[in-house]
Amino acid sequence: MSKFIKAAVLGHPVKHSKSPLIHNYWIKKYGLNGSYEAIDIMPQDFEKDVKRLIDEGYSGFNCTVPHKEAALRLCDEIDDTARTTGAVNTIYIKDGVIKGTNTDAFGYIENIRENARGFDFSGGPALVLGAGGAARAIIYGLLNAGTPKIILTNRTREKAENLAIDPRISVIDWHNKEEVLEEVHLLTNTTVLGMDGKPALEIDIKALPKTALINDIVYAPLYTPLLQDGSAQGNPIVTGIGMLLHQARPAFAKWFEEMPAVDHDLERMVLS
Ligand code: ATR
Repeated sequence: MSKFIKAAVLGHPVKHSKSPLIHNYWIKKYGLNGSYEAIDIMPQDFEKDVKRLIDEGYSGFNCTVPHKEAALRLCDEIDDTARTTGAVNTIYIKDGVIKGTNTDAFGYIENIRENARGFDFSGGPALVLGAGGAARAIIYGLLNAGTPKIILTNRTREKAENLAIDPRISVIDWHNKEEVLEEVHLLTNTTVLGMDGKPALEIDIKALPKTALINDIVYAPLYTPLLQDGSAQGNPIVTGIGMLLHQARPAFAKWFEEMPAVDHDLERMVLS
């Protein structure tokens, strides 16, 4: 029998995490010998507890709120994605070296590649709403995917300016976002607006070309008002659940040496 592989998501709180559902689904689907748990770790214990878990034989971890920056500091080596996003969501151990990466940019881009087949990232400007942690990863993904121009807007303009890490990024005021819609090829909401329990995202998207792709990273509800408006006026849309599912794939591959696929049963299970 092959070696038993242990992995876990580390967070505080961590009970709400969907990661155990996703990774255990794949462990079973691919007939692998391993486990994936959720472990609640207090911020002050992060480094000590991670080192103890590694000593206990864990192959790696996902790190979620509030540990993503602490994870970056703890790693012996990080890659460009983690460095640019300023956060590590995946830790894996290779020959005793603690390595860190961030799979959110991959998850974002793959979600669109899988669910808007033929979409050309280089085909025109992207309008990105929001400048939090998710936006940081998404911008990195879009730049690498060949997006020629990113228009970034956030309620707090300064945070958007801090994310303008490339000459292809321009920042506009939050209240001016409807004025640029005519030139937009991809519209992505990375804010929490439109999520169950959060305020609505107020934007009139009539001026958006009908070919423009609309994506929301909010997946509760799955069809946010933004996606419903887009669909009603004939725009192609991509929901947010795929970003969660696809970001898990490269992490799983690091630990279990098997690149898993997202399928409908997994999506249904995570949404139910
Ligand atoms: P995440 O890491 O998931 O991106 P975050 O860092 O808390 O989460 O970012 C949340 C995003 O939602 C930010 O862009 C935030 O805007 P501010 O930077 O101005 O806070 C945005 N957001 C949250 N509530 C908002 C609101 N009521 N109106 C507009 N934007 C809002």
